[in-house]
Amino acid sequence: MAFVSQAPTILVFDSGLGGLTVFREIVKLRPGARYVYVADDAYFPYGQHTEDEIVARVVPLVGDLIAEHAPDLAVIACNTASTLVMTHLREAYSVPFVGTVPAIKPACALSQTKRVSVLGTRGTVKREYTKALIRDFAQGCDVTLVGAENLANLAEAALRGEHASDEAVAAEIAPCFIDGDARTDTVVLACTHYPLLISQMVALAPWAVNWIDPAPAIARRVSDLLGSTNGVGETHRAEFIFTSGQAPSPVLADALEPFFGSREVA
Ligand code: DGL
Repeated sequence: MAFVSQAPTILVFDSGLGGLTVFREIVKLRPGARYVYVADDAYFPYGQHTEDEIVARVVPLVGDLIAEHAPDLAVIACNTASTLVMTHLREAYSVPFVGTVPAIKPACALSQTKRVSVLGTRGTVKREYTKALIRDFAQGCDVTLVGAENLANLAEAALRGEHASDEAVAAEIAPCFIDGDARTDTVVLACTHYPLLISQMVALAPWAVNWIDPAPAIARRVSDLLGSTNGVGETHRAEFIFTSGQAPSPVLADALEPFFGSREVA
């Protein structure tokens, strides 16, 4: 993209709070940028909407956000949406976009046992896009697709201060673990909400695996696309927007702090 001479504005979009796991990695690499984080809580969870519904919802909504915030770059920090809308967005708007899609290629490259699981929403694991990634990049691995029904909700609730029960989390991740001639050794976190529960998932896993969180790689891609920018050394305030128009509860406001660093959040 063209050289950005001012602090760039980066829009990060998700159905809810999961995109914060991508957001925090971008903030680490680009502390001098201006940030707008948008959680489409009015339509959460995306995993339970049809493909047509998601396209019809996200494409115009992102267009409105671009018109309002004039970002230099927009990150769709949601696999359930990115596996559907990236082409539509790039056709409709001239802003550079970075999406979030299942990290199947690096996971399969890393796996020693050649048995990999992809843990995503029910929507993401059904997508033709995800199946094409497996066809193109499985590199001889057996890939198991696991559509979690409620894990994004559990992650969202955990960040809002409610406890996600061990039983519920264990039940959602259990189908990732295939034992047999070759045991699963690598699990792709194909939903940006899931890293919010990583400690619990590691503790509850029946055996140790590599958990692949693509957030640092996505942040590097964002930073590469932005190229040379100014604004480093200054900390701009960040905007946090719920599409429902609600303000974060005090508990959530506290939980957001580590993601936003020392920024003032409005
Ligand atoms: N965070 C979203 C993702 O990466 C999904 C959560 C939802 O179902 O809305 O897929």
